[in-house]
Amino acid sequence: MTDSRGRVTKDGIRIYEQSDFAGMHKAGRLAAQLLDELIPMVVPGVTTGELDKYITDRVVQEGAVSATIGYKGYKHATCISVNHVVCHGIPAEKRLKNGDIVNIDITVIVDGWFGDTSRMYVAGKLGRKAERLIDITHESLMRGIAMVKPGNTFGDIRHAIQSYAESQRTSVVRDFCGHGLGRVFHAPPNVLHYGRAGTGAVLEEGMIFTIEPMINLGRPETKVLADDWTAVTRDKSLSAQFEHSIGVTADGCEIFTLSPAGKFHPTYG
Ligand code: MF3
Ligand code: CO
Ligand code: CO
Repeated sequence: MTDSRGRVTKDGIRIYEQSDFAGMHKAGRLAAQLLDELIPMVVPGVTTGELDKYITDRVVQEGAVSATIGYKGYKHATCISVNHVVCHGIPAEKRLKNGDIVNIDITVIVDGWFGDTSRMYVAGKLGRKAERLIDITHESLMRGIAMVKPGNTFGDIRHAIQSYAESQRTSVVRDFCGHGLGRVFHAPPNVLHYGRAGTGAVLEEGMIFTIEPMINLGRPETKVLADDWTAVTRDKSLSAQFEHSIGVTADGCEIFTLSPAGKFHPTYG
């Protein structure tokens, strides 16, 4: 889909109107609400396919559209990435077991606007190392978001994420990134999660994009499995990810995908 209205920066980044933010807010809120609904369902014994089926049905019930069903041949309403799966895990018949950590990523389209968010869940009892990784990953995203205001650069966001994650002796995945979105799923810029402060495009009011750091307990390298989707850590170390869709405002940013239940982080909200 194209969007011909408004202005595009020299870096190819679309500038949206404040009135467009209402559309993003509605789409983001539905995606976040659906993630909230999954919280009690992520338990040992459930299959990731069952979780996906629930979301497929709920998206239709809400009169929304899944952005991922049919996207580049992908067939599901969610990506569900367990333990050492970094992202793009395909829902399947495998059952979750006690202690599994799970990222669930949903993108919905509401009135043409895309809401894209993911967060971590745990099936059963959360292990100590996994808890630490989840905390660091969540904090990395929030430190990135804290840099979002007009006049700062994408490098400031990237540096905030990388410097924190590495200070905690974890690593930032290089092979996947956040992205502009709005009336399209993936648009400029690529929002990488590592880099130098002060570099890159300058943030302007009206920009809309995701930040979605993937952080590993071990090394940052990934590989994609034979299914052409599932990305895993090469060293099999645990990986975590959180994602928000946000818009730049006059003095900071609006997070479109805040959890209506206040439960974005699996242990402390
Ligand atoms: N939601 C993912 C993102 O954050 C993209 C998933 S594409 C899919 O950009 F096809 F794998 F679903
Ligand atoms: Co996503
Ligand atoms: Co995304």
